[in-house]
Amino acid sequence: MSLTTALLALSLSSLVSAHIGAWHHGMYCLNGTTPGKDDSDGTDIVQPLWNLTKDDWWFHHDNGCDEFPPDDGDFLEIPANGQFTVELSVNRAFTTLSYGGSRIGLYPDGQNYPDGLGGQNCITQLNIHTQNQSMAAGTAFAISYQSDLSQVTPENLVVFSTLYHTPWERLATYSVPDLPACPEGGCHCAWGWVPNGCGEPNMYMQGFRCMVTGQTGSRALAPAVPPTWCQDDPGNCTTGAKQMIYWNQLDGNNILVEGWDDSGEPRSPAYNGVCGWEEGAQTDIFLSDGSATPTSVIGTATGVGPGPSATGTPAPSGKPSGARRMSVSWTWGLVVGIALVVGWVV
Ligand SMILES: *[C@@H]1O[C@H](CO)[C@@H](O)[C@H](O)[C@H]1NC(C)=O
Ligand SMILES: *[C@@H]1O[C@H](CO)[C@@H](O)[C@H](O)[C@H]1NC(C)=O
Ligand SMILES: *[C@@H]1O[C@H](CO)[C@@H](O)[C@H](O)[C@H]1NC(C)=O
Ligand SMILES: *[C@@H]1O[C@H](CO)[C@@H](O)[C@H](O)[C@H]1NC(C)=O
Repeated sequence: MSLTTALLALSLSSLVSAHIGAWHHGMYCLNGTTPGKDDSDGTDIVQPLWNLTKDDWWFHHDNGCDEFPPDDGDFLEIPANGQFTVELSVNRAFTTLSYGGSRIGLYPDGQNYPDGLGGQNCITQLNIHTQNQSMAAGTAFAISYQSDLSQVTPENLVVFSTLYHTPWERLATYSVPDLPACPEGGCHCAWGWVPNGCGEPNMYMQGFRCMVTGQTGSRALAPAVPPTWCQDDPGNCTTGAKQMIYWNQLDGNNILVEGWDDSGEPRSPAYNGVCGWEEGAQTDIFLSDGSATPTSVIGTATGVGPGPSATGTPAPSGKPSGARRMSVSWTWGLVVGIALVVGWVV
């Protein structure tokens, strides 16, 4: 075997053994985990989490990803009552964040699979833990109204959007409920995925700095409680604000499942109906009206470049430069209004 063949075999095997991460300028670990290096072929964040202590799996601390925040001003922008898009990929190389986007494809490994992908058996072309799109377990985004990562807890990190039958294509677009505004320093968000079979029963959790933009809501989020398995019994579903799924780790787990699911496979918790998550924006996660102050936060277009998409997902372009909060809010309106009335009476 020549050196080139050996290198090719090595690089192919490392690609096949790769898993999936959600890529965006607002992510932790964008450039990898070597200080000062910008890893265009980065895979640190795509490594799955399995059988780890909570100290290690929480926000991907096991390989140090939580210690590499995004640049100041880079946020994943979350438009209240709108949608946002991230790139799901086995490697940063196959996203618009590397090589000017020249290696992207329809799927997370830079390929287009014109003859289709998937069938009856587990997919082997890329490690996407499914047989086909309909069997893909689903992914989710959660948000915590804490600007300081060390203050984020399972109770204040609430799942606000799910996307059934993903990961599948590179572009993934999530719908947003009527989220309230973040503090000045922004929020923290997390992407999660628990695959169902086709490989090690692991989980994925990665961090982002995020900012809610647009006309924000008037209700704060309720404290999150652990999800429960409820495939055959809707009465057993956890309703309201739910935590992310923390599963199959040495400690810090928040769900235990036993036995078999409806298709005769071992039960695997997931961001879909088996744990009571409706698809899309989660609208039952709020406290009462008036628990948050609505504001208007100006965002800039988020940075997912163009690329092929079978579903025609819109892909706005341009690098995000951070959200800016408009000084006008309902509170100010009220203060000025009261001042005017008081001034007029006096
Ligand atoms: C999980 O980790 C523990 C402690 O490191 C180890 O003893 C155990 O064998 C591991 N379990 C599996 C299934 O790998
Ligand atoms: C990533 O690397 C690029 C290029 O060196 C640099 O401009 C950017 O600040 C780095 N970002 C982070 C979050 O380390
Ligand atoms: C997807 O995979 C499942 C499990 O193997 C199988 O039952 C189903 O028929 C497959 N669907 C398609 C469209 O291949
Ligand atoms: C619902 O929860 C109850 C109490 O935990 C349990 O006994 C029952 O088996 C659950 N039902 C299903 C279908 O899992």
